[in-house]
Amino acid sequence: MRELVLAPSILSADFADLAGALARVEASGASWLHLDVMDGRFVPNLTFGAKTVADLRARSSKLFFDAHLMTVEPERLAPAFAKAGADAVTFHVEACVHAHRLVREIRDAGAAAGVSLVPSTPVSALAELLPDVDLVLVMTVDPGWGGQKLIESCLGKVRELAERRERAGLEFRIAVDGGVNAANAASVVEAGADVLVMGSAFFDSPDSAALAASVLALGTRT
Ligand code: DX5
Ligand code: ZN
Repeated sequence: MRELVLAPSILSADFADLAGALARVEASGASWLHLDVMDGRFVPNLTFGAKTVADLRARSSKLFFDAHLMTVEPERLAPAFAKAGADAVTFHVEACVHAHRLVREIRDAGAAAGVSLVPSTPVSALAELLPDVDLVLVMTVDPGWGGQKLIESCLGKVRELAERRERAGLEFRIAVDGGVNAANAASVVEAGADVLVMGSAFFDSPDSAALAASVLALGTRT
């Protein structure tokens, strides 16, 4: 099994203290930081741009920066996030016509390339792209806000992706994003996820280190 990764999302952090949020994620034992970029068009909410990512990167954190672009025309923005220090840049297949080109541009800019699906998009939309991506992010809520409830039926897509990956001998990671918490993490991992994005469950937790330890322990089960 791939190493299980916890990726706390700063969407649920105090935006007046992002450096504090970064420190809290590092102290918890999580190894990734999920950065939700919203443009007020692809989703009805706005968050931050590449400068925020660059400023966080300048804090010399060892965290893997996982940028999730919920934007229209991701090709206009994605390379800037890679240059700002994102280790992976994920865009939505629903927002991009020439996805292979964008994957190449993200990699040329020095980052791993990911692609994401909203709940209503089937895995088959990625059939031609799977051999070329480093990460597939399955959204288990309609994106826009943290704190929503995970749509259980989306876990079927996680299973399907894990099967396709196995069958084709591919290496992409499978991330699940939206409504993941301590109570459902085991079923998300069981479905085949190896990256768990956690926003409100992480930042609302009174003991995020204990939460991270219990989630990461799911990855060591045999
Ligand atoms: C949702 C974002 C998620 C969000 C997850 O639009 O893409 O990354 O931060 O937050 P929770 O875990 O609270 O659903
Ligand atoms: Zn996200």
